[in-house]
Amino acid sequence: MAVFNLSDYLTKRRKIIEEELQNVIKGIDEASGTLKRAMKYSLFSGGKRIRPIFAFAAAEAVGGTAKDALPAAIALELIHTYSLVHDDLPAMDDDDLRRGLPTSHKVFGEAQAVLAGDALLTKAFSVLTDFANNNINPKKLLMVAHEIAQAAGEQGMLGGQIADIESERKEIDLPSLEFIHIRKTGALILASIRSGAILVGTDEDKLGKLSKYGRNIGLAFQISDDILDVVGDKELMGKKPGQDHVKGKATYPALLGLSESRKMAEKLVEKAIETLSDFGKAAEPLRAIGTFIIERQS
Ligand code: IPE
Ligand code: IPE
Ligand code: MG
Ligand code: MG
Ligand code: MG
Repeated sequence: MAVFNLSDYLTKRRKIIEEELQNVIKGIDEASGTLKRAMKYSLFSGGKRIRPIFAFAAAEAVGGTAKDALPAAIALELIHTYSLVHDDLPAMDDDDLRRGLPTSHKVFGEAQAVLAGDALLTKAFSVLTDFANNNINPKKLLMVAHEIAQAAGEQGMLGGQIADIESERKEIDLPSLEFIHIRKTGALILASIRSGAILVGTDEDKLGKLSKYGRNIGLAFQISDDILDVVGDKELMGKKPGQDHVKGKATYPALLGLSESRKMAEKLVEKAIETLSDFGKAAEPLRAIGTFIIERQS
Protein backbone atom coordinates (compact mmCIF):
# COMPACT_ATOMS: atom_id res chain seq x y z
CA MET A 1 0.00 0.00 0.00
CA ALA A 2 1.37 3.41 -0.95
CA VAL A 3 2.44 5.58 1.97
CA PHE A 4 0.49 8.82 2.24
CA ASN A 5 2.66 11.74 1.11
CA LEU A 6 1.58 14.82 3.07
CA SER A 7 3.91 17.24 1.36
CA ASP A 8 2.55 16.25 -2.05
CA TYR A 9 -1.01 16.46 -0.71
CA LEU A 10 -0.49 19.96 0.71
CA THR A 11 1.09 21.20 -2.53
CA LYS A 12 -1.81 19.92 -4.65
CA ARG A 13 -4.54 21.23 -2.35
CA ARG A 14 -2.78 24.60 -2.05
CA LYS A 15 -2.79 24.88 -5.84
CA ILE A 16 -6.58 24.48 -5.88
CA ILE A 17 -7.14 27.27 -3.36
CA GLU A 18 -4.50 29.60 -4.85
CA GLU A 19 -6.18 29.42 -8.27
CA GLU A 20 -9.58 30.19 -6.82
CA LEU A 21 -8.26 33.10 -4.77
CA GLN A 22 -6.67 34.52 -7.94
CA ASN A 23 -10.10 34.37 -9.57
CA VAL A 24 -11.63 36.20 -6.61
CA ILE A 25 -9.09 39.02 -6.99
CA LYS A 26 -9.57 39.12 -10.77
CA GLY A 27 -13.26 39.69 -10.18
CA ILE A 28 -12.69 42.84 -8.10
CA ASP A 29 -13.18 46.14 -9.92
CA GLU A 30 -9.99 48.18 -10.40
CA ALA A 31 -12.03 51.22 -9.34
CA SER A 32 -11.82 49.98 -5.75
CA GLY A 33 -8.19 51.18 -5.94
CA THR A 34 -6.11 50.67 -2.81
CA LEU A 35 -8.71 48.28 -1.45
CA LYS A 36 -8.07 45.79 -4.24
CA ARG A 37 -4.30 46.19 -3.96
CA ALA A 38 -4.35 45.73 -0.19
CA MET A 39 -6.66 42.69 -0.40
CA LYS A 40 -4.38 41.09 -3.00
CA TYR A 41 -1.23 41.96 -1.04
CA SER A 42 -2.34 40.16 2.11
CA LEU A 43 -3.95 37.23 0.32
CA PHE A 44 -0.88 36.39 -1.75
CA SER A 45 1.96 36.60 0.67
CA GLY A 46 2.52 32.91 1.31
CA GLY A 47 0.15 31.66 3.99
CA LYS A 48 -0.07 27.94 4.70
CA ARG A 49 -3.74 27.81 3.60
CA ILE A 50 -4.36 25.35 6.42
CA ARG A 51 -8.05 26.23 6.90
CA PRO A 52 -8.95 25.56 3.25
CA ILE A 53 -6.89 22.38 3.45
CA PHE A 54 -8.83 21.29 6.55
CA ALA A 55 -12.06 21.87 4.64
CA PHE A 56 -10.78 19.83 1.67
CA ALA A 57 -9.52 17.01 3.87
CA ALA A 58 -12.80 16.86 5.83
CA ALA A 59 -14.77 16.68 2.57
CA GLU A 60 -12.56 13.80 1.45
CA ALA A 61 -12.89 12.07 4.84
CA VAL A 62 -16.64 11.73 4.30
CA GLY A 63 -16.36 10.47 0.74
CA GLY A 64 -16.39 13.71 -1.24
CA THR A 65 -13.71 15.53 -3.17
CA ALA A 66 -11.69 18.63 -2.32
CA LYS A 67 -13.66 20.59 -4.91
CA ASP A 68 -16.88 19.95 -2.95
CA ALA A 69 -15.46 22.08 -0.14
CA LEU A 70 -14.37 24.97 -2.35
CA PRO A 71 -17.09 27.48 -1.32
CA ALA A 72 -16.11 27.11 2.34
CA ALA A 73 -12.40 26.95 1.60
CA ILE A 74 -12.34 30.32 -0.16
CA ALA A 75 -14.53 32.02 2.45
CA LEU A 76 -12.38 30.66 5.27
CA GLU A 77 -9.11 31.90 3.79
CA LEU A 78 -10.61 35.33 3.11
CA ILE A 79 -11.85 35.58 6.70
CA HIS A 80 -8.60 34.27 8.14
CA THR A 81 -6.61 36.80 6.09
CA TYR A 82 -8.84 39.64 7.29
CA SER A 83 -8.29 38.48 10.87
CA LEU A 84 -4.51 38.67 10.37
CA VAL A 85 -4.66 42.17 8.87
CA HIS A 86 -6.66 43.42 11.85
CA ASP A 87 -4.69 41.37 14.41
CA ASP A 88 -1.50 43.12 13.29
CA LEU A 89 -2.88 46.67 13.59
CA PRO A 90 -1.21 49.04 16.09
CA ALA A 91 -4.40 49.00 18.15
CA MET A 92 -4.14 45.23 18.48
CA ASP A 93 -0.85 43.24 18.37
CA ASP A 94 1.05 46.01 16.59
CA ASP A 95 3.16 43.77 14.36
CA ASP A 96 5.33 44.85 11.42
CA LEU A 97 5.91 41.53 9.69
CA ARG A 98 3.37 39.02 8.38
CA ARG A 99 3.77 36.18 5.94
CA GLY A 100 7.30 37.40 5.27
CA LEU A 101 6.25 40.90 4.26
CA PRO A 102 5.60 44.24 5.99
CA THR A 103 2.11 44.21 7.48
CA SER A 104 -0.78 45.77 5.57
CA HIS A 105 -0.98 48.95 7.67
CA LYS A 106 2.78 49.49 7.19
CA VAL A 107 2.35 49.43 3.43
CA PHE A 108 -1.06 50.99 2.87
CA GLY A 109 -1.79 52.93 6.07
CA GLU A 110 -3.98 52.10 9.03
CA ALA A 111 -7.33 53.22 7.69
CA GLN A 112 -6.65 51.31 4.48
CA ALA A 113 -5.74 48.16 6.42
CA VAL A 114 -8.94 48.38 8.48
CA LEU A 115 -10.96 48.73 5.30
CA ALA A 116 -9.07 45.98 3.45
CA GLY A 117 -9.83 43.64 6.36
CA ASP A 118 -13.50 44.61 6.26
CA ALA A 119 -13.52 44.06 2.50
CA LEU A 120 -11.98 40.58 2.82
CA LEU A 121 -14.58 39.63 5.42
CA THR A 122 -17.46 40.89 3.30
CA LYS A 123 -16.06 39.24 0.17
CA ALA A 124 -16.02 35.90 1.97
CA PHE A 125 -19.80 35.78 2.23
CA SER A 126 -20.31 37.27 -1.20
CA VAL A 127 -18.18 34.55 -2.82
CA LEU A 128 -19.66 31.78 -0.67
CA THR A 129 -23.27 32.60 -1.45
CA ASP A 130 -22.48 33.17 -5.13
CA PHE A 131 -21.85 29.42 -5.43
CA ALA A 132 -25.64 29.06 -5.44
CA ASN A 133 -25.37 30.14 -9.09
CA ASN A 134 -22.93 27.31 -9.64
CA ASN A 135 -25.27 24.41 -9.08
CA ILE A 136 -24.35 24.00 -5.43
CA ASN A 137 -27.22 23.19 -3.09
CA PRO A 138 -28.35 26.55 -1.60
CA LYS A 139 -29.40 24.89 1.66
CA LYS A 140 -25.90 23.53 2.20
CA LEU A 141 -24.42 26.93 1.38
CA LEU A 142 -26.72 28.57 3.89
CA MET A 143 -25.73 26.07 6.57
CA VAL A 144 -22.06 26.69 5.87
CA ALA A 145 -22.49 30.48 5.81
CA HIS A 146 -24.11 30.23 9.25
CA GLU A 147 -21.42 27.89 10.55
CA ILE A 148 -18.62 30.21 9.41
CA ALA A 149 -20.34 33.42 10.58
CA GLN A 150 -20.88 31.95 14.05
CA ALA A 151 -17.26 30.82 14.23
CA ALA A 152 -15.91 34.21 13.13
CA GLY A 153 -18.14 36.30 15.37
CA GLU A 154 -18.43 37.16 19.04
CA GLN A 155 -19.07 33.53 20.02
CA GLY A 156 -15.91 32.48 18.25
CA MET A 157 -12.88 34.24 16.83
CA LEU A 158 -13.81 37.79 17.86
CA GLY A 159 -14.84 36.65 21.33
CA GLY A 160 -11.37 35.12 21.64
CA GLN A 161 -9.61 38.16 20.19
CA ILE A 162 -11.21 40.55 22.67
CA ALA A 163 -10.40 38.29 25.62
CA ASP A 164 -6.83 38.01 24.29
CA ILE A 165 -6.45 41.80 24.16
CA GLU A 166 -8.03 42.31 27.57
CA SER A 167 -5.83 39.65 29.17
CA GLU A 168 -2.57 41.33 28.20
CA ARG A 169 -0.25 41.75 31.19
CA LYS A 170 -2.72 39.94 33.45
CA GLU A 171 -2.37 36.66 35.23
CA ILE A 172 -5.05 34.33 34.01
CA ASP A 173 -5.73 30.68 34.83
CA LEU A 174 -5.70 27.71 32.46
CA PRO A 175 -9.48 27.61 31.84
CA SER A 176 -9.42 31.31 30.86
CA LEU A 177 -6.48 30.74 28.54
CA GLU A 178 -8.23 27.76 27.00
CA PHE A 179 -11.32 29.96 26.53
CA ILE A 180 -9.23 32.46 24.53
CA HIS A 181 -7.45 29.92 22.35
CA ILE A 182 -10.51 27.80 21.59
CA ARG A 183 -12.25 30.92 20.34
CA LYS A 184 -9.62 33.10 18.71
CA THR A 185 -8.17 30.26 16.63
CA GLY A 186 -9.97 27.02 17.40
CA ALA A 187 -13.41 28.17 16.27
CA LEU A 188 -12.45 28.90 12.65
CA ILE A 189 -10.48 25.66 12.37
CA LEU A 190 -13.46 23.72 13.72
CA ALA A 191 -15.71 25.51 11.22
CA SER A 192 -13.30 24.61 8.39
CA ILE A 193 -13.61 20.93 9.16
CA ARG A 194 -17.36 20.96 9.73
CA SER A 195 -18.02 23.04 6.62
CA GLY A 196 -16.06 20.68 4.38
CA ALA A 197 -18.11 17.74 5.64
CA ILE A 198 -21.43 19.62 5.49
CA LEU A 199 -20.89 20.54 1.85
CA VAL A 200 -20.51 16.87 0.97
CA GLY A 201 -23.23 15.70 3.34
CA THR A 202 -22.69 13.24 6.15
CA ASP A 203 -24.45 11.67 9.12
CA GLU A 204 -24.56 13.07 12.66
CA ASP A 205 -22.18 10.44 13.99
CA LYS A 206 -19.43 11.31 11.52
CA LEU A 207 -20.00 15.06 11.89
CA GLY A 208 -19.77 14.66 15.67
CA LYS A 209 -16.47 12.81 15.40
CA LEU A 210 -15.06 15.36 12.97
CA SER A 211 -16.14 18.12 15.35
CA LYS A 212 -14.29 16.46 18.18
CA TYR A 213 -11.23 16.18 15.97
CA GLY A 214 -11.61 19.86 15.02
CA ARG A 215 -11.95 21.12 18.59
CA ASN A 216 -8.81 19.31 19.73
CA ILE A 217 -6.81 20.24 16.63
CA GLY A 218 -7.92 23.88 16.80
CA LEU A 219 -6.63 24.28 20.34
CA ALA A 220 -3.42 22.39 19.52
CA PHE A 221 -2.86 24.72 16.56
CA GLN A 222 -2.86 27.82 18.75
CA ILE A 223 -0.69 26.18 21.43
CA SER A 224 1.76 25.42 18.64
CA ASP A 225 1.54 29.06 17.45
CA ASP A 226 2.38 30.18 21.02
CA ILE A 227 5.34 27.76 21.13
CA LEU A 228 6.63 28.99 17.77
CA ASP A 229 6.52 32.55 19.09
CA VAL A 230 9.10 31.43 21.66
CA VAL A 231 11.28 29.04 19.66
CA GLY A 232 10.45 29.74 16.01
CA ASP A 233 12.62 31.20 13.27
CA LYS A 234 11.69 34.59 11.82
CA GLU A 235 12.59 33.66 8.24
CA LEU A 236 10.68 30.39 8.30
CA MET A 237 7.61 31.84 10.04
CA GLY A 238 7.50 35.13 8.15
CA LYS A 239 6.59 36.86 11.43
CA LYS A 240 8.70 38.18 14.25
CA PRO A 241 9.02 35.80 17.21
CA GLY A 242 9.14 36.97 20.82
CA GLN A 243 6.24 39.36 20.44
CA ASP A 244 3.92 37.56 22.86
CA HIS A 245 6.42 38.13 25.65
CA VAL A 246 6.86 41.79 24.67
CA LYS A 247 3.07 42.33 24.73
CA GLY A 248 2.54 40.32 27.91
CA LYS A 249 0.17 37.96 26.07
CA ALA A 250 -1.57 35.10 27.79
CA THR A 251 0.04 32.04 26.18
CA TYR A 252 0.56 28.36 27.01
CA PRO A 253 4.37 28.63 27.29
CA ALA A 254 3.99 31.66 29.58
CA LEU A 255 1.57 29.80 31.85
CA LEU A 256 2.85 26.22 31.69
CA GLY A 257 6.35 26.39 30.23
CA LEU A 258 7.49 25.00 26.88
CA SER A 259 7.73 21.36 27.80
CA GLU A 260 4.23 21.14 29.34
CA SER A 261 2.80 23.09 26.43
CA ARG A 262 4.34 20.67 23.94
CA LYS A 263 2.98 17.72 25.88
CA MET A 264 -0.48 19.24 25.96
CA ALA A 265 -0.47 19.88 22.20
CA GLU A 266 0.72 16.33 21.53
CA LYS A 267 -2.02 14.90 23.71
CA LEU A 268 -4.68 16.95 21.95
CA VAL A 269 -3.48 15.77 18.53
CA GLU A 270 -3.37 12.17 19.72
CA LYS A 271 -6.95 12.46 20.95
CA ALA A 272 -8.01 14.08 17.69
CA ILE A 273 -6.49 11.32 15.58
CA GLU A 274 -8.04 8.61 17.78
CA THR A 275 -11.46 10.09 17.09
CA LEU A 276 -11.03 9.22 13.41
CA SER A 277 -10.35 5.53 14.04
CA ASP A 278 -13.37 4.30 12.07
CA PHE A 279 -12.94 6.63 9.08
CA GLY A 280 -10.45 4.36 7.30
CA LYS A 281 -8.18 5.49 4.52
CA ALA A 282 -10.35 8.49 3.61
CA ALA A 283 -9.20 10.30 6.76
CA GLU A 284 -5.49 9.75 6.08
CA PRO A 285 -4.99 13.45 5.16
CA LEU A 286 -6.71 14.66 8.36
CA ARG A 287 -4.57 12.34 10.48
CA ALA A 288 -1.35 13.48 8.79
CA ILE A 289 -2.28 17.16 9.04
CA GLY A 290 -2.97 16.65 12.74
CA THR A 291 0.62 15.60 13.32
CA PHE A 292 1.90 18.30 10.96
CA ILE A 293 0.36 21.16 12.94
CA ILE A 294 2.48 20.42 15.99
CA GLU A 295 5.65 19.56 14.07
CA ARG A 296 5.55 22.61 11.80
CA GLN A 297 8.26 25.27 11.75
CA SER A 298 6.05 27.99 10.33
C1 IPE B 1 -1.77 32.52 12.26
O1 IPE B 1 -2.41 31.56 11.49
C2 IPE B 1 -2.73 33.13 13.22
C3 IPE B 1 -3.43 32.17 14.05
C4 IPE B 1 -4.71 32.12 14.11
C5 IPE B 1 -2.66 31.26 14.90
P1 IPE B 1 -1.60 30.65 10.45
O2 IPE B 1 -0.41 30.05 11.13
O3 IPE B 1 -2.55 29.72 9.79
O4 IPE B 1 -1.08 31.74 9.41
P2 IPE B 1 -0.84 31.65 7.83
O5 IPE B 1 -2.17 31.69 7.18
O6 IPE B 1 -0.11 30.39 7.54
O7 IPE B 1 -0.04 32.87 7.50
C1 IPE C 1 -4.21 35.36 16.28
O1 IPE C 1 -3.45 34.91 17.33
C2 IPE C 1 -5.53 34.86 16.20
C3 IPE C 1 -6.30 35.51 15.12
C4 IPE C 1 -7.56 35.43 15.13
C5 IPE C 1 -5.64 36.26 14.05
P1 IPE C 1 -2.01 35.55 17.35
O2 IPE C 1 -2.05 37.01 17.55
O3 IPE C 1 -1.15 34.75 18.24
O4 IPE C 1 -1.53 35.25 15.83
P2 IPE C 1 -0.13 35.68 15.25
O5 IPE C 1 0.92 35.03 16.11
O6 IPE C 1 -0.07 37.18 15.28
O7 IPE C 1 -0.12 35.09 13.87
MG1 MG D 1 -3.34 38.37 18.42
MG1 MG E 1 -0.86 38.49 16.57
MG1 MG F 1 0.80 34.10 17.86
